[in-house]
Amino acid sequence: MRKKSILITGAAGEIGDALIRSLAQSATNQVITLDIRPLPPEISQMVTHVQGDLLDQALLARLVSEYEIATIYHLAALLSTRAEFTPEAAHKVNVEGTLGLLKLASEQSLWRGEPVQFIFPSSIAAYGMPDLETKAKFPHVREWEWNYPTTMYGCNKLYCELLGTYYSHNFRQLAAEKPVMLDFRSVRFPGLISAFTVPSGGTSDYGPEMLHAAAKDEAYACFVREDTIIPFMAMPDAVKALLGLAAAPASGLSRTVYNVTSFSLTAAEFRDQVVRAFPGAQISFDPDLKRQGIVDSWPAGLNDHDAQRDWGWKPDYDLERSFGEYLVPNIRSRYQD
Ligand code: SER
Repeated sequence: MRKKSILITGAAGEIGDALIRSLAQSATNQVITLDIRPLPPEISQMVTHVQGDLLDQALLARLVSEYEIATIYHLAALLSTRAEFTPEAAHKVNVEGTLGLLKLASEQSLWRGEPVQFIFPSSIAAYGMPDLETKAKFPHVREWEWNYPTTMYGCNKLYCELLGTYYSHNFRQLAAEKPVMLDFRSVRFPGLISAFTVPSGGTSDYGPEMLHAAAKDEAYACFVREDTIIPFMAMPDAVKALLGLAAAPASGLSRTVYNVTSFSLTAAEFRDQVVRAFPGAQISFDPDLKRQGIVDSWPAGLNDHDAQRDWGWKPDYDLERSFGEYLVPNIRSRYQD
C-alpha cells in the first residue's frame, strides 16, 4: 500500500520552512518534500525529503509510485527579480514545473477517484498598474482587476492560476465522460516577511532585508524610494492562509484564486518601524530604477473581501502585532547569539 501523503515542492524556501514546521505539528498524513536543495537540518527531521529537480519526470513518477499524494503545496518558483535575469529558465521552472505537477495531480485524482488538492501560492506580481497615478487611484485591487503583469514571474503566476483553474474545471471538457478533476486553490500573497529566514531573488525583499540588516547591526541601502507602497504579511499569516484555504469546504468557494493581505505601508514607514525597534539602524535609500519599476507596478493594497466571505480569512498579525509580537522579538533573539 502506498502511504497517503502531502507533497511540498520548493520546500527549502521561506514559505516551505514555515509550512513544514506547522504541518509537522498538525498533519496526520506523511509529509514529503521536494527541492533542488537540501532542507535545513532543523526541519529535515520532520519530513521525508527528496532532493531533486521538479522538472525531472522520472523523479515525479517515482514519487507517485511510492506515495499516494492527496495534497500538493506547490511552492517552488524563481521569484521576480531573479526571474528577470534568466526569464526562460524562470518560465521552465515556474510554468513547465507547474504544468508537470498539474498533470501528475490530475492523473492521481483519476486514479484515486477523488480530487487531489493542489494549493498554489500566487502573488501581487500577477498585477500590473500602468503608472503611479493609477496605483494611487485604485489602492485595493480586486482579483480580476489590473491583471497585466510586467515581470516574467508575474506572467508565470497569472498563467499558472489559469492553468490550475483549467485542470480543475475544464480539463477534457469534450470527453464523453468528465474525469475526476483535481481541486486547485490559489492565494495571491503580498510581500511576505519572516523572522527566521531572509528572502532571496524577490523584489519585495527590501522590507525584510532592512529589518534583518538592522538586527545584525549592518547598514542597509533600500533599493526603492521612500514613498513606495505595497502590501505585506507576516509569515505565520501566510501559512494560516494556505492551511485555511486548504481546509475550506469546496462548496463555499466561489473562486479558485483569492487575494489575501494584512497591511500596506511605504518603505519610509517600514524604516520607521525598524528604527523604533532598533534605534541604531543605519538605513538609507538608493533606488534601483529597474527594481523600483517592478514594485511601482504592484498594487498598493489588495481587496481580500472574497477570501473573508468564502472561507473566513482573517490575518492574525496586523502591522503592530507583526512587528511587536512576531518580527522584532524573534529577529532580536535570532541574532543575539
Ligand atoms: N515576494 C515576491 C517577489 O518579490 C512577490 O511574490 O518576487
